[in-house]
Amino acid sequence: MREIYLDNAATTPMTPEVIDEMTKEMKESWGNASTGYSYGRHAKLVMENSRHVIAQSINADDNEIIFTSGGTESDNMAIIETAFKRQELGKHIITTAIEHEAVLKPLHFLEEHGFEVTYLPVDEHGNISIADFKQALRDDTILVTIMMGNNEVGSRMPIHEIGEILKDHQAWFHTDAVQAYGLLPIDVKADHIDMLSTSAHKLNGPKMMGFLYRRDGISFPSFIKGGDQETKRRAGTENVPAIAAFAKAVAADGPEEKAARQKRYYHFKQKIVQALTDAGIDFAVNGEVAPDNLNHVLNLWFKGISTYVMQTDLDLAGIAVSGGSACTAGSIEPSHVLTAMFGKDSPRVSESIRISFGVMNTDEEIAQLIATIIKTVEKLKQLKKGE
Ligand SMILES: Cc1ncc(COP(=O)(O)O)c(C=O)c1O
Repeated sequence: MREIYLDNAATTPMTPEVIDEMTKEMKESWGNASTGYSYGRHAKLVMENSRHVIAQSINADDNEIIFTSGGTESDNMAIIETAFKRQELGKHIITTAIEHEAVLKPLHFLEEHGFEVTYLPVDEHGNISIADFKQALRDDTILVTIMMGNNEVGSRMPIHEIGEILKDHQAWFHTDAVQAYGLLPIDVKADHIDMLSTSAHKLNGPKMMGFLYRRDGISFPSFIKGGDQETKRRAGTENVPAIAAFAKAVAADGPEEKAARQKRYYHFKQKIVQALTDAGIDFAVNGEVAPDNLNHVLNLWFKGISTYVMQTDLDLAGIAVSGGSACTAGSIEPSHVLTAMFGKDSPRVSESIRISFGVMNTDEEIAQLIATIIKTVEKLKQLKKGE
């Protein structure tokens, strides 16, 4: 049986080119980039060249990129350190109800330490409203942390508008771009973004690798205490082979490639929705199939079929998709994103799956997915009838 991997929002496989790059640098650039002799100088050169490629990809300057262990660390660093550094100016923070746990958990931690957090609600498409945001913004707001695009339903947040509103406000603007980075063109200067988190393993790079963009002019103490790496902004010996591999993945992901992927995934989505509709399957899309959303994510509600049953049956047929909120230790728990969109009593919360596409997926795989879903739903319907 041929396995089909359709959980690319959880993680992506490294491409052969990225594996080659990492392997090469494991052999050639294993020196400690902080040392002054030739091994260290070589590793540092590779690291700084990679930093340049990465900085260019979001229109940042090289010194604004801090390498981290990924999205979770970048989010934690931006949120917790901003709050503690700026608490004299206020204790209010704005976010959305549908952020990843890597944002929500640090915010819950801050609430335990006397900070006040406003969670903007979303509509049934997973969108926030600018009117709600304007209403929530206060003189004592010190941080706004709003994701660029959602990992469960693919909705986009109005980052440019929020950046425009905040450019004359004291609040620093952080965005979690972990899912968006591989698909959307990003310009931190045009969007007035102060901090931005990414993760390499979402765009065919290595795991435990990412960066925090921190605008020049913003500072907070090193989150991880130790050596003076990353110009004293993040202690710990840098993983140069992983950084080089990350840059390789980013370089393969220029504006044209991103646009082509968005188009291709949108086509996948349309094809699936059309085929299931034509087959008379009782289902609904959670969120919107819209060309400008994060098109690698398609979240579907199969009415009357539990997430667990659907995910397991597809797994048995060799197809890997996500049930509930992915990334949280493999457990299927009611999704806080679907709960925010439809309410906790909606059957969608426990009867939905997430399909997410990546560069390795083919049209044939999508056709096989469609056929398998139709077969699975029909089989489960028959079983129910016989009960
Ligand atoms: C939106 C978002 N933020 C943060 C993370 C965490 O990133 P990492 O796995 O690199 O820690 C994820 C992972 O799924 C994510 O989807």
